[in-house]
Amino acid sequence: MTDTPELARLIEAARVARENAHAPYSKFKVGAAILGESGRIFAGCNVENAAYPQGQCAESSAIGAMVTAGDRRIRAIAVMGGEAGAEEICTPCGGCRQRIREFATLETPIHICDPAGLRRTFPLETLLPESFGPTNLAF
Ligand code: THU
Repeated sequence: MTDTPELARLIEAARVARENAHAPYSKFKVGAAILGESGRIFAGCNVENAAYPQGQCAESSAIGAMVTAGDRRIRAIAVMGGEAGAEEICTPCGGCRQRIREFATLETPIHICDPAGLRRTFPLETLLPESFGPTNLAF
């Protein structure tokens, strides 16, 4: 999907969401955008809190928007954080990898971006190997 209009749209949605991030404590703004099964895009940003542990990641916000709107499958997700060209890329935290797992397949692409654009794409399985997921409870 690299260089497709669909990916460009997803990255743009992550960029717009990132601009609305509430990150007064870390100053680290993140945006996420999900392409849902319906073809709609759901975006979210990180929402920090003065009581630090109550903060929420951008991926969590985007998943919440998707589920609220009735979609249940993540076809692709873009995450945008950090500085353009920074050495470190903004891969999802461990908790968000598991949250993505709930609604994705092991092949679902996770597009890691910075404000200059796409940096790397990983299938979920690369970021969350040997994972526990819904099929473990399919008894
Ligand atoms: N953060 C995200 O929103 N997503 C990520 O993938 C990594 C980290 C947020 C959490 C916190 O608000 C800030 O970035 C610094 O950790």
